[in-house]
Amino acid sequence: MPDKYDQCDKEVILVVDDNSITCEVIQRNLEMSGFHVFTAQSVNDAIQILSKQNINLVITDYKMPKHSGLELIKYVRDHLKEISIIMLTGYGSINSAVSAIKEGADEYITKPFTDEELLDAVKTSLQKQKQKKIDPGLLYDDVWTRFGIMGQAQNMLEVYSKIEKACNNDAIVLISGENGTGKELVARAIHYNHKARSIYPFIPVNCPGIPAGLFESELFGHVKGAFTGAVEHRKGFFQAAEKGCLFLDEISELPFELQSKLLRVLQEKEICRVGETQTEKIDTRIIAATNKNLENLVKKDLFRQDLFFRLNVINIDIPPLRDRGNDILLLARHFVLKYAKELGITESIFTEKAITALKNYSWPGNVRELENLIHRSLIMNDKDIIDSVDFPDIMKFKVHYNPHLNLSLEDMSKKYIRDVVQQTGGNKTKALEILKIDRKTLLKKLK
Ligand SMILES: Nc1ncnc2c1ncn2[C@@H]1O[C@H](COP(=O)(O)OP(=O)(O)OP(=O)(O)O)[C@@H](O)[C@H]1O
Ligand SMILES: [Mg+2]
Repeated sequence: MPDKYDQCDKEVILVVDDNSITCEVIQRNLEMSGFHVFTAQSVNDAIQILSKQNINLVITDYKMPKHSGLELIKYVRDHLKEISIIMLTGYGSINSAVSAIKEGADEYITKPFTDEELLDAVKTSLQKQKQKKIDPGLLYDDVWTRFGIMGQAQNMLEVYSKIEKACNNDAIVLISGENGTGKELVARAIHYNHKARSIYPFIPVNCPGIPAGLFESELFGHVKGAFTGAVEHRKGFFQAAEKGCLFLDEISELPFELQSKLLRVLQEKEICRVGETQTEKIDTRIIAATNKNLENLVKKDLFRQDLFFRLNVINIDIPPLRDRGNDILLLARHFVLKYAKELGITESIFTEKAITALKNYSWPGNVRELENLIHRSLIMNDKDIIDSVDFPDIMKFKVHYNPHLNLSLEDMSKKYIRDVVQQTGGNKTKALEILKIDRKTLLKKLK
């Protein structure tokens, strides 16, 4: 057993593999990159070292005699929550990789791997470990149980800690993120974990869905006879959400003149029903969401700057799915379990090709698109395996779709067509299949 290693400027890694040669090779590589490395050839030895040394990262093999790497992950997660873990898995054993991630491994590497792959994974995991130290109270299991949000990507950590903050006060929250990233899910998580408000209603309002003429009456209510058709007193969304939370979805779509009305309400914290002169105080928490960049809209004079400042107290920006690394797999697995249970069928597993397709695709529709894909694959498929052939053609090509908010629809569609043609290697038949347009239109567009 080594003495306590306390040369604190180096990060300390524990490598666990029953094969001593693998241990030595990894040790040598990592020491050359400036890390201090311990090795252990069994889970028991590893636990001994963990109890005596300050380890930052554990790299463990999956298959070992007696106790498996999975058991070591469980031990670390139960006793030493801050340590990062990388799991080494054999080629083709994607299900072990998925279970490793589920148990709490931060990364996995498939054997055989290159020195660069190892070093990349080590750097990412150590970065995650630093984040965990910043917010040690927040654990992923906890996030799922309390917030109903699945995912452990590093860029979701900030989302979780902001939700945590927002649960403890009444500040206005502005949630931004592309379509289907989970904006409403986050809003609900904040509301249902609020210590005082959670027992009162959460009222979602789709701003563009309200006809401009009815905005005030819908939001603030009206009295009988206030206008033709107002046959009785009616509460608005604000009163319905009294003591609870009003979720203003797609706030960017609110017409300019209505933005000032909303601003006044947020400032005064009182509303006036249509047809009435007396105001009434309101006690409603506001959460707004947008899939557009409000700051850009402010610059273009399409959104009021004063309203933006009012809304932007706690700002939660949800990262797109394509930037969440292994969370794509974790979510895919999560939806397989969810829908297999719902449909009463066995839980399918993904082939290596399916995993690659899932990881390479750019997910313009984010988590919702992934959820729909898995649901559809399970319904259409009567096998226990989901392969890339079960996915739509578009997923077989790496088309990177980044919505450019400064492009018009026309320009975006031109750019997209060019990307598809390029990614299919100029194979026009394939491109037509993906784009679902006819050859004549394609040729015209390409011109
Ligand atoms: N991290 C996550 N874990 C589990 N389910 C998720 C996660 N993120 C999103 N979902 C699911 O994906 C779907 C879309 O989420 P949600 O409606 O919250 O997204 P959104 O950003 O409001 O979408 P839109 O922009 O289209 O309004 C929902 O079914 C939601 O439950
Ligand atoms: Mg939504």
